[in-house]
Amino acid sequence: MPDLSGKVAIVTGCASGIGAATVRRLRADGAEVFGTDLDPDGGTALCAEVGARFAVQDVSDRALWPQIVARAVEAFGRLDILVNNAGMVSGAGIGDHDDAAMFAAWDKVLAVNLTGTMAGCRAAIAAMRANPGGAKGAIVNIASTTAIAPLPTDVGYSASKAAVRALSKSVATWCAQAGLAIRCNTVIPGATMTGILAAAEVQMPGLIAAVAKTSPLNRLADPSETAAAIAFLASDECPFMTGAEMLVDGAALSIHPGF
Ligand SMILES: NC(=O)c1ccc[n+]([C@@H]2O[C@H](COP(=O)([O-])OP(=O)(O)OC[C@H]3O[C@@H](n4cnc5c(N)ncnc54)[C@H](O)[C@@H]3O)[C@@H](O)[C@H]2O)c1
Repeated sequence: MPDLSGKVAIVTGCASGIGAATVRRLRADGAEVFGTDLDPDGGTALCAEVGARFAVQDVSDRALWPQIVARAVEAFGRLDILVNNAGMVSGAGIGDHDDAAMFAAWDKVLAVNLTGTMAGCRAAIAAMRANPGGAKGAIVNIASTTAIAPLPTDVGYSASKAAVRALSKSVATWCAQAGLAIRCNTVIPGATMTGILAAAEVQMPGLIAAVAKTSPLNRLADPSETAAAIAFLASDECPFMTGAEMLVDGAALSIHPGF
């Protein structure tokens, strides 16, 4: 297990699924954690259970990001890790709905999944540069296999997650060229049994059974498996890993579609 003792982490979307599993994992590995979520009840309960702090946050509210980071630094004295995990689906394919509904769904999913992630990186880097002892930190952004094999039924989600991959690499290379010991990597989960998949199932019936079959392991991931990859990238285990991507997809994207 990576040793995260002495480190301070912000985890967005902490009330459920991969975010909740990440809070548990980072706490178990020794980090202090500041969790945030839109959901006050779920977030408060989870963070109280594992001894983390909690704040309500809509990650798409860019003005709130510096305040969230400042609260984490005020609570724990520094910021070492940001996990940009909060995300949503829009459930709209390119020809669905009327223009008003389509563009509303597009704007919302891009604001949360992409702009929220960018705003988080920007605010976190400012704090990580000011860390006692010098600039240091690790950002882990959460994309999706739909960034590589997109959903015809969700153009906004797929496009936002594809953009997160490029965003992470741009952040990683900017920090490297600026001489900052701040890394940025992406975890690319495949189908994972969480609330977002349950919500997507309502909009796209049959999705869960279909995506379970896409892995030759013939199952969904448990959120703790994704959290294990996040904890590794958040740790100091491999300082040369930046701009990198880790697939946690049960080899779903590694097999010829005919098999
Ligand atoms: N579950 C999967 O199969 C899967 C696959 C690939 C990628 N992902 C990604 O993993 C991440 C976590 O998703 P999950 O599967 O754990 O879903 P989830 O629905 O269980 O959890 C998402 C959490 O994010 C919160 N959230 C949503 N919008 C928010 C906002 N604007 N501001 C703050 N919090 C917000 C929700 O309240 C919820 O607690 C997402 O980025 C998702 O796109 C999930």
